[in-house]
Amino acid sequence: MIMEIATPTTLMEQLLGIQVPIICGPMYPCSNPELVAAASTAGAMGVVQPISLTYVYGYDFREGLRYIKQLTTQPIGMNALIEQSSRRYHQRMVEWLDIALEEGLRFFITSLGKPSWVVDRVHASGGVVFHDVTERKWAEKGVESGVDGLICVNNRAGGHAGTKSAQVLFEELSDLQLPLVCAGGIATPADYKQALLIGYSGVQMGTRFIASTECQASAVYKQAIVEADEDDIVMSERVTGVPVALINTSQLQLSGLSSGKFARWLLKWNTSKHWMRLVYVLRSLWQLKSASLDVSGKKEYWQAGKSVSGIHSVKTVAEIVKQFH
Ligand SMILES: Cc1cc2nc3c(=O)[nH]c(=O)nc-3n(C[C@H](O)[C@H](O)[C@H](O)COP(=O)(O)O)c2cc1C
Repeated sequence: MIMEIATPTTLMEQLLGIQVPIICGPMYPCSNPELVAAASTAGAMGVVQPISLTYVYGYDFREGLRYIKQLTTQPIGMNALIEQSSRRYHQRMVEWLDIALEEGLRFFITSLGKPSWVVDRVHASGGVVFHDVTERKWAEKGVESGVDGLICVNNRAGGHAGTKSAQVLFEELSDLQLPLVCAGGIATPADYKQALLIGYSGVQMGTRFIASTECQASAVYKQAIVEADEDDIVMSERVTGVPVALINTSQLQLSGLSSGKFARWLLKWNTSKHWMRLVYVLRSLWQLKSASLDVSGKKEYWQAGKSVSGIHSVKTVAEIVKQFH
């Protein structure tokens, strides 16, 4: 009798109900509904970024989810950002999570903080939670909360990158007995194969999907990704107050990579720190939104990871995912 052995990749496919172990990572401000739906239709997992859906693309949250569900019959996920920056923000996230569950979503990605309240609600509905981590201490918080998998954000990732390589992060977390997803630096089938060889159960990609037909980022932003090499990616605190991976454009070089002097001074004091963070968050949400969608290309604050080195053209999401089947 031939025994069927469940490989890590098939386990992840079964857990999430997808055909290929690829997550189209949540992206502020690049996760437009059409991109999320296209990723799921192609056999991967499209993930809704709720602030993108509502603030950038202007949907009421429930209506936005219903619109995506009209575009695809396949499962979609949601990014639950659980940072407790304010009570109002937390309440809004709880509302969004409940709406997502009511609308039939069963896959959630948490980032920052302790995800236990998300896990409790999602498990009660038979769903699955993966937690974003950059190092062991965050992974342990996820494990304590009962998450079902870890998204291991490495030092090549777009967005708020980690500090460790994919290999080192895997070694640090592999004894936790959870499916591990490699986030960062994946654009080509060779990158993907390498991640699976390390032992990862699947991958999460962001930058590759920005340079897709369905993503509504501006054509100049997509072209900048196509033209960039990995040395063009720098970590900058300028936009969000914490290091984020950006393409090193001439505008970024002019403004510098670190936060301004006044901001640094304010961030030192406990009383002003909270407000300064809030100012930064609101300003960065606006700045990243306007830069990503601006067709003139004059606002060159473009987020991307080192996977740009493997991206040489804008493709449809179906073409991108097909390479990995
Ligand atoms: C423009 C951009 C915005 C992102 N925004 C988020 C976000 O809102 N929430 C999140 O959990 N991850 C976010 N990420 C991280 C991605 O979901 C994913 O983990 C990362 O892009 C993987 O690295 P890659 O860009 O090399 O593929 C973002 C990444 C990018 C490039």
